[in-house]
Amino acid sequence: MSVIRLYPSGNEVPCPDGMTVLAALEAEGWALPNNCRAGTCGECKVKVRSGSFDQGFVLDMALSKEDREQGYGAMCMAKPLSEYLEIEWGTEDAKPTLFPPREQIAYVVVERIERTPSIIELRLRPIGESLRFWPGQHMQLGAPPEHPLRNYSMANAPRPDGELTFYITREPFGQTSSWLTDSVAIGETLMVNGPYGSFIGDPAIATPVLLLAGGSGLAPIMSLTEAALRRGFAHPVTLVFSVRTPADVYPLGQLEYLKRRYPNFELQVSYTRHDHGKTCTAEPHHHGRIPEILETITPSLAGTAVFIAGSDHFVSDCARVVNSLGPGMVYTEPFTDQQGDFFSLSILG
Ligand code: FES
Repeated sequence: MSVIRLYPSGNEVPCPDGMTVLAALEAEGWALPNNCRAGTCGECKVKVRSGSFDQGFVLDMALSKEDREQGYGAMCMAKPLSEYLEIEWGTEDAKPTLFPPREQIAYVVVERIERTPSIIELRLRPIGESLRFWPGQHMQLGAPPEHPLRNYSMANAPRPDGELTFYITREPFGQTSSWLTDSVAIGETLMVNGPYGSFIGDPAIATPVLLLAGGSGLAPIMSLTEAALRRGFAHPVTLVFSVRTPADVYPLGQLEYLKRRYPNFELQVSYTRHDHGKTCTAEPHHHGRIPEILETITPSLAGTAVFIAGSDHFVSDCARVVNSLGPGMVYTEPFTDQQGDFFSLSILG
């Protein structure tokens, strides 16, 4: 058994013999960025300050000779050999390090799906190197100068091929959103800046989690949920998604997949408008705005971490009710885009 020490916080994580540093961190709830988990992408690269480790097989493109000389290691393949292994872990409060934003990175539209009359899903792939991000962060998309850059949250967890998924809401007066929803074609090149946003959650959360999402605020929640479940977050995760009608549950297939793949994930939908005759396979469901019905869904939130994403009103109204139910923690962060696309988000690490 070795001990991984996180610098500068001094937090310590046990690492059983034969376990990689990445696996040991994840087993204790610490979220280290990673992608391939096989030594080929370099996403999990960190500086090792002291101690020795077996690096295992890692491609030079993931960990260069210079990286190795400077003491960096790829933690998805690294196994400690010494009693203590001290690695750099971001800022003093031991939050994970943010990736420095980059600008004017070219991505190609590889898929565009009309999810509802007002929301389209865009999938973009990088032509060259991809932008690394934490689940819950956002990018700026556009094609300046005709279509100024605007903020949109990723709806997917980081992937080895760098693909980014966005849900874009049609805004009647939004110059860029109208272009993205109505005109952008498959094969077109967009400029992407980012990532931005520091609400990358608390990877040490070890409690049940309640996620409240309204409309397109679902995007950062989906990214966080997918990433957390995929890395083995084992506590109950309940998503309550607020939409107007059953037709607005736009990523139904992805939500159903999460339900069946991860038994600790539960989906509930709340409809704010009655739309008789239409049904949704998502069960159970409710009628009414989440702030008005939350107490009937869950009378107490003691010991629960709550994450809220949606419009300013949605977030503030939900937060007010959530706080009255005694949550363990509430994570929100208002954000308003220049063109009127808005969401607030809270992050699950
Ligand atoms: S996660 Fe890809 S090299 Fe470690």
